[in-house]
Amino acid sequence: MTEHPATEPAAPDRAALQGARVLLGVSGGVAAYKAALLARGLVTHGAQVQAVLTDAAARFVTPAQLAALTGRPVPTDLFEDAHRIVHVDLARQADVAAVAPATANVLGKLAHGLADDLLSSALLCLDAPLVLAPAMHTEMWEHPAVTANVAMLRERGALMVGPDHGPLAGGDHGPGRLAEEDAILDAVAAALGPSTAPAQATASTQPTAGDEPLAGLHAVVTAGATREHLDPVRYLTNRASGRMGYAVAGALARRGATVELIAGPGEQPDPAGVTVQRVETAREMHAAVLARADVADVVVGAAAVADFRPAETAAHKRKKGAPDETEQLTLVRNPDILGDVGARKRPGQVLVGFAAETQDEEAQGADKLARKGLDLIVVNRVDAPDAGFAVDTNRGLLLGADGTRAELPLMRKDALADRLVEAIVARLPSRDLPQTNADR
Ligand SMILES: Cc1cc2nc3c(=O)[nH]c(=O)nc-3n(C[C@H](O)[C@H](O)[C@H](O)COP(=O)(O)O)c2cc1C
Repeated sequence: MTEHPATEPAAPDRAALQGARVLLGVSGGVAAYKAALLARGLVTHGAQVQAVLTDAAARFVTPAQLAALTGRPVPTDLFEDAHRIVHVDLARQADVAAVAPATANVLGKLAHGLADDLLSSALLCLDAPLVLAPAMHTEMWEHPAVTANVAMLRERGALMVGPDHGPLAGGDHGPGRLAEEDAILDAVAAALGPSTAPAQATASTQPTAGDEPLAGLHAVVTAGATREHLDPVRYLTNRASGRMGYAVAGALARRGATVELIAGPGEQPDPAGVTVQRVETAREMHAAVLARADVADVVVGAAAVADFRPAETAAHKRKKGAPDETEQLTLVRNPDILGDVGARKRPGQVLVGFAAETQDEEAQGADKLARKGLDLIVVNRVDAPDAGFAVDTNRGLLLGADGTRAELPLMRKDALADRLVEAIVARLPSRDLPQTNADR
């Protein structure tokens, strides 16, 4: 799974970082070395970074390194300078706090109100937005205690970014990898809210509200099919080409939104101005979307995600047996990406799904809309030759959770994407309708 910007991605409102006072907590995971790069990234965007290391973090990176990068001393000890009550000062002087990496230990302490060192004491005094970027081995991340702590922190308003799915220390692979620096920077900027600063150094390259009505909006779009591997050479998949999701990503990006497209394997060229992350399996797509969903204003699930995967993926090519032998294949359910995003939807966030049906499409679509907590759903039949999978045109129905119903006659997928974006924008808090291509 690699991330490669198709072109320089339109940054979200990173201008919010300019002059912002960021308390950067670093706890003791292997990924602590990446905190140095994050500190540098924050400083580059004009933030005033105050780093705090836990004792365990200081075993991985040195306070001196963070001090040199941030231009500020880096405290680690709760009792040093006790006359100043440093933990209270640190919290009061922060416009936002970010902990990256956040260990299972830090998440647990914060969830349960424990304060036995400088970082945890400062975080308990915090009255500013908090961004947490967990990183740990998959076993730790999937432990029910960690899951419960994360849910508790999320409920209290912490913005979670990551973890990503990918290579981990010790040669392992799975969910638990620290989110990419860009995703953490975006999350910190999002937590700070829209910039009120006047013209910034970067402003001239940023879209302006006039011609880019969705500037500052962060969208996550999925596209294509997933592959569920049976063995190293065979997989289960479906006919989705990704064209519809790519068209939606392009339509949002043309209006100035920052768009992350999480796409299954395919031949589609990367849309201009969109960051494309390639995944293969439904579980990879699930991890990638969930890692981004908290900071997204809009999530569009246009991918045709496999509902099931083989219970086992053989390490070697499966051999055919005797000519009359039959083969049993056991399938297990994949995670429900949109369902999980819907379950943690925050106010003002707009969630959009697609339903590919071959019968009874309106009833099926309405059911999916309600079941997954979506705001909008595009329902289309995938058994017509001119609509659905792997063609340039589509038609269907657009259903809204507010009871709206619009017929989408046969049209090109990019025109349908424009229609969909208009409907999305109409559901965003206090935004004007964008112009369609035809209006320009
Ligand atoms: C080599 C090594 C790597 C570790 N990596 C992680 C990690 O990635 N995530 C994590 O939660 N804990 C990790 N730990 C365990 C933490 O360091 C340990 O739980 C520690 O108490 C965390 O302290 P802190 O949360 O105060 O920084 C690691 C420990 C070692 C020795």
